Amino acid sequence: MVEIKSAAAIEAMREAGRVVGEALAATRAAARPGVSLRELDEVAARVIREAGAKPTFLDYLPSFAPVPYPAVICASVNDAIVHGIPDDYRLRDGDLLSIDCGAELDGWTGDAAVSFTVGRAADADLRLIETAEAALAAGIAAVRTGARIGDIAHAIGRTARAAGYGIPQGFGGHGIGRRMHEDPDVPNEGRPGRGFPLRPGLVLAIEPMLLAGGLDGYHCAPDGWTLRTDDGSRAAHVEHTVAVTADGPRILTLP
Ligand code: MF3
Ligand code: CO
Repeated sequence: MVEIKSAAAIEAMREAGRVVGEALAATRAAARPGVSLRELDEVAARVIREAGAKPTFLDYLPSFAPVPYPAVICASVNDAIVHGIPDDYRLRDGDLLSIDCGAELDGWTGDAAVSFTVGRAADADLRLIETAEAALAAGIAAVRTGARIGDIAHAIGRTARAAGYGIPQGFGGHGIGRRMHEDPDVPNEGRPGRGFPLRPGLVLAIEPMLLAGGLDGYHCAPDGWTLRTDDGSRAAHVEHTVAVTADGPRILTLP
């Protein structure tokens, strides 16, 4: 069931989203060679706690996972696409890191992700990240009353495929509100003019995932959470929580 949010609910979701944006900004600022993923998790945990919010991912148990999620952020390095569990791995020069974070404030949830390089960047990684950001921007630009979920999916997928990148099937964006995962699903590839119609009060997490090798294949690591590319190529993942308003899209997860 799709829940349409009131204007007051969207203002409350903006405050939850702001906490997520600030946690991601702080985490990104702390990421450099030598810093461990667990240390980055602590940075995000502190920002969320000091804002009076609750980390959404911690202990989250979706149907696809065998164990509750054990951390505040997902930290996915290089060939990890999403859901990387922060551990004692220390970032190295040239790593590509995707950080995903969720927070709940006053009963409302925000969910967002960023991808960036650490230390000296490879041109190929910068191009992958820029394309993921362009795909997210294209998906957000497709958000307007009267458009459909398929228009968002198509805009994302076309941007990724035109640049030669793969798209993992079966994972994508989602409705969001009091819970992190609500209807409708927001696939990262699809047919324009199809799917659930957008209207003011609908709030969506839009989250393109791009695989550098151009193939779609991925698998889950033995930890039961981390998704990795089959070909070992790198991946980028970016995400915003976005409200449909009468004036078009409103991004809720900026700092
Ligand atoms: N942005 C991710 C998603 O929508 C975050 C989930 S991580 C989890 O699936 F640990 F909470 F599952
Ligand atoms: Co999400």
